[in-house]
Amino acid sequence: MTGPRYELYYMPISLEKFRPDSIVNFSLYMKVKDKLVLYRDKNIIITADDIENLKASGVKFLYIKKEDRKKYREYMEKNLDGILKDPNVDQRVKATYLYEAAVNVVEDIFEHPKRGEVVKRSKEVVNHTVDFILSGPDAFVNLLQIRAHDYYTFTHSVNVCTFAVALGNKIGAFDDKTLRELGVGALLHDLGKSMVDPKIINKPGKLTPAEWEEMKKHPEYGVELAKQSGLVSEQSMLIIGQHHEKFNGTGYPQGLKGRQISLFGRIGTIVDVFDAITTTRSYSKAKEPIEAAKFMLEHREGFDEKLLYSFIELITVK
Ligand SMILES: [Fe+2]
Repeated sequence: MTGPRYELYYMPISLEKFRPDSIVNFSLYMKVKDKLVLYRDKNIIITADDIENLKASGVKFLYIKKEDRKKYREYMEKNLDGILKDPNVDQRVKATYLYEAAVNVVEDIFEHPKRGEVVKRSKEVVNHTVDFILSGPDAFVNLLQIRAHDYYTFTHSVNVCTFAVALGNKIGAFDDKTLRELGVGALLHDLGKSMVDPKIINKPGKLTPAEWEEMKKHPEYGVELAKQSGLVSEQSMLIIGQHHEKFNGTGYPQGLKGRQISLFGRIGTIVDVFDAITTTRSYSKAKEPIEAAKFMLEHREGFDEKLLYSFIELITVK
């Protein structure tokens, strides 16, 4: 590995990511020569003056311990509202806050899938995502650019939500409420994986037939969990239950065909596959969006073709 040793344990956060006068409950470090030194211990308020002073002395990044990443995401979720409303904050910074806050919520919901409070937070973060995407074409492009390129269930869920909302918006088939239901379903689409043995989920190699059978139950487990929460609409559940159905009937769990699959489900299948093949997995390299589009067109029988064309337009037109 190249680069300084501290990069193994610390990650840089650009100064613009700190909200003036916000409480920071993780320690901040700064680079002095080639070493990291403690700048502020945890539980401090970082003021507008602090940020100005750092800028004035040429500091562009502060560092946090990688083990504090969860706390950093919580910080972003806590400050999300203020950041999004602030006209002085750059849109890319807003996109980062939104993305990290959404990842934070998904992480929590996988840990506590039955906890109503977390389901409510997922709805809030989806509302922000929808508002953000509707704010203009650049917003989606920004979200696309900061998207994590390694495959993790949590970031995958956020990516799928972003793509589903953007595609739903593009085809203009939904009213505002339905678009938000699409977003919630997309964010929670793999929730059922929280009930599948992690050994199966994280297995780097090929699954045995029995493991694969268990894996294929995750859409139904997800619907069950969503029902139990009492907070997820029937509409949203369609994408949870049908995101692995294929247009030609070869999908699972029900093997539905064509229009038997709801529009939510057909959107889900497209965006789920696209994100999976454009992110790096333990067993495959990420495809570029254009290659992914080609691949999906070659396998178009599995998708709603008209929707697929709309989606390809969305991700290739900048
Ligand atoms: Fe899935």
